[in-house]
Amino acid sequence: MATFHDKLSLSTLILFCVIVDVCSRGPVYKPPSVERLTDRFSQSTVNKSYDFAFGASNIHVTNNGTSAALSLDKSSGSGLVSRNKYYYGFFNAAMKLPAGFTSGVVVAFYLSNADVFPHNHDEIDIELLGHEKRRDWVLQTNIYGNGSVRSGREEKFYLWFDPTQDFHDYSILWNNHHILFLVDNVPVRQVAHTAAIGSAYPSKAMSVYATIWDGSEWATHGGKYAVDYKYAPFIATMRGIEMEGCVANSKNAMSCSRSGVSSVDPVVGEPFSRLSRQQSGAMEWARRKHMFYSYCQDRNRYKVLPSKCNDN
Ligand SMILES: *[C@@H]1O[C@H](CO)[C@@H](O)[C@H](O)[C@H]1NC(C)=O
Repeated sequence: MATFHDKLSLSTLILFCVIVDVCSRGPVYKPPSVERLTDRFSQSTVNKSYDFAFGASNIHVTNNGTSAALSLDKSSGSGLVSRNKYYYGFFNAAMKLPAGFTSGVVVAFYLSNADVFPHNHDEIDIELLGHEKRRDWVLQTNIYGNGSVRSGREEKFYLWFDPTQDFHDYSILWNNHHILFLVDNVPVRQVAHTAAIGSAYPSKAMSVYATIWDGSEWATHGGKYAVDYKYAPFIATMRGIEMEGCVANSKNAMSCSRSGVSSVDPVVGEPFSRLSRQQSGAMEWARRKHMFYSYCQDRNRYKVLPSKCNDN
């Protein structure tokens, strides 16, 4: 039975947590607990899921193929591309980012078909942007649909943990209902597939990429801080590979037709078609506390805000 003293110390603790949470932008924030979508899929290996896309000499597959170290040095960045192309799916990479001075460094986990459709490509991006100060890696999301950014454009977040200390899950869910970006299963952005979005909703099969490269020109404070190769190599380690979806066949990217998706696509059903109450709450927490840039608030860039911004 709880004594008065127990209750007192509990309330002191709660008060303390509230104060700390409000007063400091410390290194560690406890996110709301949320359903773990990543637990619904089994993990794959680097060799089964990916081929080398570029910088092969800077890619080291380790731990029986369950993890890969991708490095960027003066000679090259490096990247993996999925063996299959997917039309809808759930994609995860657990990543640990390079520590120390990382300005200009970009670690990206994304879907794209720009190689096949250079003028009207689709793309769903998670980009992690290095910083001139330790700990301040920034997460950026972006979407292109049929060559248009009408459905998306950039949003930027600070992370609620130090991404250089341990592995954290970065996931993309893409299906007929919505696109969801998740960090450690906490949704940080949702783009619903509304009629208004039309062709700006990504709708052609895409490859999955995990890459590290030199983004000196734009990544850190709009290009103010370039990569400093004095600190190279920059190494991002990846594991926890999940890649579940409708594999497109080589002849016809749309062979997983919309009507047939439910039979072959493992990412349909309630948990993937809409956010639970808990997930919505967690997303609101992430956006309220950790989002520091949205194209919808960028009055310097847009005299007239993109029309999508008025929806929310
Ligand atoms: C996508 O873009 C191409 C090229 O601009 C265009 O021909 C096509 O009609 C677009 N698709 C849709 C569904 O609007």
